[in-house]
Amino acid sequence: MEKPTVRIALIGYRFMGKLHSHAYNMVQQLMDPPCRIELAVLCGRDSSALKAAQEAWGWREISTDWRAVVARTDIDAVDIAVPGNAHAEIALAALAKGKHVLCEKPLANTLADAEAMVDAAEASGKVHMVGFNYRRAPAVQLARRLIDEGRLGKIFQVRGTYLQDWAADPNVPLTWRFDRSVAGSGSLGDLLTHVLDMTRFLVGDFEEVTALSHTFVARRPLPANFSGTGLGHAGQAASDSFGSVDVDDVTAVLARLEGGVIGVFEATRFATGFKNALCLEVHGDRGAIRFDLERMNELDYYAVETEEPTRQGFRRILATHPDHPYMQYWWPEGHIVGYDVTFAHEIHDWLSAIIRSQPVSPDFTDGMRCQAVVDAIASSAQKRVTVSL
Ligand SMILES: NC(=O)c1ccc[n+]([C@@H]2O[C@H](COP(=O)([O-])OP(=O)(O)OC[C@H]3O[C@@H](n4cnc5c(N)ncnc54)[C@H](O)[C@@H]3O)[C@@H](O)[C@H]2O)c1
Repeated sequence: MEKPTVRIALIGYRFMGKLHSHAYNMVQQLMDPPCRIELAVLCGRDSSALKAAQEAWGWREISTDWRAVVARTDIDAVDIAVPGNAHAEIALAALAKGKHVLCEKPLANTLADAEAMVDAAEASGKVHMVGFNYRRAPAVQLARRLIDEGRLGKIFQVRGTYLQDWAADPNVPLTWRFDRSVAGSGSLGDLLTHVLDMTRFLVGDFEEVTALSHTFVARRPLPANFSGTGLGHAGQAASDSFGSVDVDDVTAVLARLEGGVIGVFEATRFATGFKNALCLEVHGDRGAIRFDLERMNELDYYAVETEEPTRQGFRRILATHPDHPYMQYWWPEGHIVGYDVTFAHEIHDWLSAIIRSQPVSPDFTDGMRCQAVVDAIASSAQKRVTVSL
């Protein structure tokens, strides 16, 4: 029987737009999805850059008008890969036109927008998903399997960090990631949200947070092509060739989670030496796990009971066995996979849920709950108090 076709419109064509385009092609060619994928329309604001992207990645059409695109009757699903300030408006318009929606993280820049997106998504009956792709690294799925099997026992503590260093250079220009009106926040929304989501996925929900945020570099040079568009507050505040940063460079959090679990978290763009180190460690009375995105094919696992005390220690599981989650799609055992497969797994599962009319997680409700934790962290850091959720 011929597979049904899902016709995609992708809004945004730069970093995430490129990865999502690549992921659709990976899914179509290598993951045997239950549908045919039609790369129908690629949308953005610069038509010559769009044209180059269209030719490179195989999109049928391009458009600079996302409102017209999401209203088209020959589009089934809308994929939102633009900065956070545009997520809610595009998602609400797409859902109102009966489209399935995949929205990049963070779901929205405010909790109110995230709640409106959940209401609209639930009322639409369409399949909605938020792009916390790291849940779908095979080693993270394996961690979840070990926890579900009870191999960690009663969980005591979780420790999560997301460390990058690209902003430590004060000459890095004032792009939208330093502008609250576009990005919502800095390291908190950009990086810590991935850690919060992975923690919710593996351990449980947050009950209270105590946070500290700091901005190391308060003014940055304007980008060479700065025109005042795309930057909100920071752009308007610009004088000479510099503008102000109004987001956090680093955020640190102490948290209490459901079940009495204690969490310690940190996200920073100033951790010199680290490029993309999302690390999560979970400790229970029967065992522990440790994941590091810079070694994403590996899961460290410690089992309390299996060895004599003199031989105990973490062991490294290479999460590439065909029985490990998602590895049936890829290569012979030990032939490692990369960053891009997390997006392919996400898109495969979203499209499969669309064809089967089933929900998929993380959905907009997960995105909204994550945003509630982000709000609590921002409020705690600002008021210097503990905030309950
Ligand atoms: N899942 C992940 O690991 C991950 C990684 C990076 C970024 N992201 C998220 O993806 C989103 C996009 O980030 P990016 O790194 O791709 O940014 P980017 O700057 O590389 O690209 C942004 C794109 O959005 C387009 N755009 C911006 N405003 C628009 C508007 N109003 N209308 C139409 N197009 C608009 C730009 O033209 C560009 O194509 C953000 O929400 C970010 O947090 C997720």
